[in-house]
Amino acid sequence: MKNTVITIQQAKEQGEKITMLTAYDYSMAKLIDEAGINMILVGDSLGMVMLGYEDTLSVTMEDMIHHTKAVARGTKNAMVVADMPFLSYQTSVYDAVCNAGRLMKEGRAQAVKLEGGSAFAEHIRKITEASIPVVGHLGLTPQSLNAFGGFKVQGKSEEAAKKLLEDAKAVEQAGAVAVVLECVPAKLAELITKKLHIPTIGIGAGAGCDGQVLVYQDMLAMFGDFKPKFVKHFGDIGTMMKEAFEAYGKEVKSGVFPAPEHTFKIDDDVIEKLY
Ligand code: KIV
Repeated sequence: MKNTVITIQQAKEQGEKITMLTAYDYSMAKLIDEAGINMILVGDSLGMVMLGYEDTLSVTMEDMIHHTKAVARGTKNAMVVADMPFLSYQTSVYDAVCNAGRLMKEGRAQAVKLEGGSAFAEHIRKITEASIPVVGHLGLTPQSLNAFGGFKVQGKSEEAAKKLLEDAKAVEQAGAVAVVLECVPAKLAELITKKLHIPTIGIGAGAGCDGQVLVYQDMLAMFGDFKPKFVKHFGDIGTMMKEAFEAYGKEVKSGVFPAPEHTFKIDDDVIEKLY
C-alpha cells in the first residue's frame, strides 16, 4: 500500500508506529521500500555519510535533487521526503517555495523537510499552499550546528523546553504534515507528541514519538566516524562488507575468481584463426 500524508496521519490516530529510514540511492531505496518501511528520507546527512563532509552545510540543491531522483526511482510504496539543504529556504519565503518545488518537480519527492520552528512558519505555510507537503524538524537541527556550538541535546531547560513546544505548535499550525524531533529529552518529546495532531518522528527522542527515523549507515554499522548515543546497530553490515571486499581481493590475486562459471564461451576454431 502506498504511504501518503493521509496514511501517516491515520497511523498516528490509530496508535500505529511510523517507520522512516534514510536512503540516498536507487538500490538502497528499493531494499528499504521492499522491507515495508513507511517513509524514506533523502536526508542532507548525505553530505556526511555519502560525500564525506564533516557536517551538512555544504550540501547543495543539485546534490539533493540528484540523490532524490535516484531514491524516487527505487521506491514504490514508501513516502519519499527530501531535505531542503542549508540556505535553500532560510534566505526568503520565495526561495523556499522555488526550491521545495524543484525537489518535487525534478527530484520527484512527495514531501520536503526543513529545519526550524516559528521563525520558519511563513515558509512552511507558503510551501504548503503550493501543494507541497512539509515535514518540520526541531530539536538538534544540524544546519544550526555553529549557532548551537556543537551537536547537543536540545530543550533541557524550562525555557528551552517551552520554546520547543511552541515551535512544534507553530510548525503544525503553519501546515506541516509531520515533525522530526532530533535529540530531545524523551519526556519532552512524549509531551510534544501528545499535544500535536500531526505525527512526530523521533531520532534520539525516545519511544514516545509516533515514529522513528535512523540514518541507514548508522543502523547497519557502516559509518564508523562516530556513533551517536541514540543509534542501535541492527546488523554489522559494515564488517560483513569489509570481509566480502577482502575475500574478493584475495580471490582475484590468487586467480580463484573468476571461475569458469563466471566466464563467456567462444568456439575454439574462432580463436585458432586469430593466432
Ligand atoms: O539528514 C538527515 O538524515 C536527517 C535525519 C537525521 C532526521 O535529517
